[in-house]
Amino acid sequence: MPRTKKQKTTIIEPKTHRRISFQTIKGTKDILPEEQPHWEFVRDTVKKIAQEYGFSRIDTPIIEDVNVFVRGVGRDTDIVEKEMFVFKDKGGGTLCLRPENTASIARAYIEHGFATRVQPVKLYYLGSMFRYDQPQAGRRRQFEQFGFEVLGSASPASDAQMILIAVNILKSLGLTDLNIQLNSIGCPDCRSAYRETLLAYYQSQISRLCPDCKRRLRANPLRLLDCKEEKCQRLANQAPVLIDFLCEGCHDHFKAVLEYLDKLEIVYNLNPRLVRGLDYYTNTVFEIWPGKSGRREGARQAALGGGGRYNNLIESLGGNPTPGVGFSCGIERIILQLVERGVEVPPSSPKPAILLAQLGEFAKRKALVLFEELRGEGIYVAESFSRDSLKSQLKVADRLKVKLVLILGQREALEGTILIRDMETGIQELVNRDKAVTEVKKRLEKMRRG
Ligand code: HAM
Repeated sequence: MPRTKKQKTTIIEPKTHRRISFQTIKGTKDILPEEQPHWEFVRDTVKKIAQEYGFSRIDTPIIEDVNVFVRGVGRDTDIVEKEMFVFKDKGGGTLCLRPENTASIARAYIEHGFATRVQPVKLYYLGSMFRYDQPQAGRRRQFEQFGFEVLGSASPASDAQMILIAVNILKSLGLTDLNIQLNSIGCPDCRSAYRETLLAYYQSQISRLCPDCKRRLRANPLRLLDCKEEKCQRLANQAPVLIDFLCEGCHDHFKAVLEYLDKLEIVYNLNPRLVRGLDYYTNTVFEIWPGKSGRREGARQAALGGGGRYNNLIESLGGNPTPGVGFSCGIERIILQLVERGVEVPPSSPKPAILLAQLGEFAKRKALVLFEELRGEGIYVAESFSRDSLKSQLKVADRLKVKLVLILGQREALEGTILIRDMETGIQELVNRDKAVTEVKKRLEKMRRG
């Protein structure tokens, strides 16, 4: 992808003499025309695969009541505690830019009475999320996710299918060496037994914890397993694991998920330390990391996607108990991988095979009409209406590598003719203006046949 050097513009405010510069806000990015093919490739692949698996698209608002995430994601998660863009609206409500979409979809499921539809409800989305985090490669304050959610299914087959869909999308994009990290964090019952053991473990290590973890220890010791501080990660690696505390139901559910994955020949790595940073998860949790080796260091940041089961989320937002499972992937991180691995992506729009050139005001008017005629016939034509000299228009034709140039000069415009120049041979032919569209179609067809 070509890169242009970024410019920073600054003006001095006349009244206050303050310097104001105009630049994208930290952690956000313009997606330039030359970057669009990668984005289109990802979005088109997601849409195609969603259709194949029978998922319908849902778009939820970018702004939500902050409580959707406080209650849905959890008050003492990093996302809610530190990373949300929260603001007051003029009516006094506390809103936020959505940091993720699963809680919004659970809110939408309740709000639109989806429980009365055929279950499970299978939804997918594409859209921007916002997290106030320290930006770096693959970590932005505004980033785009795609995600899939199955609401109303408790079956372990749905968990396995979610992992399968995520893998199939990434593989269709050309990312074949993936590392699937998998764990079960059980239900609240298994967790309450585990909590006591974990609390005792961390209390014995309290002096080595970061201030955040010290504070969170009593409220939710599980949160400590997910801390990004290096010293806390070292302690987390030695901590007792939840998988040893699963109740019979959760154990059976997880075993069934693994059996489905084995049947589907999906290779996974059991990772008893994977807890994920959102409180709504129950049972299966997973992440997909790039590359086969799957280093744990910095893994949360490098994950291409993550998800899991959330059997209590809808209830926690005021709905009836409804099981759910899903995942989302970060498009920026996927594109970084595509670029790094040199994956070829299809161009966003077809390349024009023809350029329409014109000379003089009278010819320009006629050329505008001819352009519309060609467009109406589905012929993709490049134009250069802002240029007047033939030389500069032919330069554009060269740059675009078009096969034909249609030239409407003053004389041709007056005589009702047009010149067709073959750019490969340099041969020019004068044809009747009324026959221009038919002639162009004939030549394009001939070129297609080779
Ligand atoms: P998450 O793990 O927080 O899960 O995010 C999913 C993916 O979004 C990450 O694996 C990563 O690729 C991308 N991502 C997260 N934060 C950033 C960031 N600051 N910059 C760039 N990319 C980022 C969720 O969001 C859950 N809603 C997933 C889910 C769906 N669980 C069940 N259903």
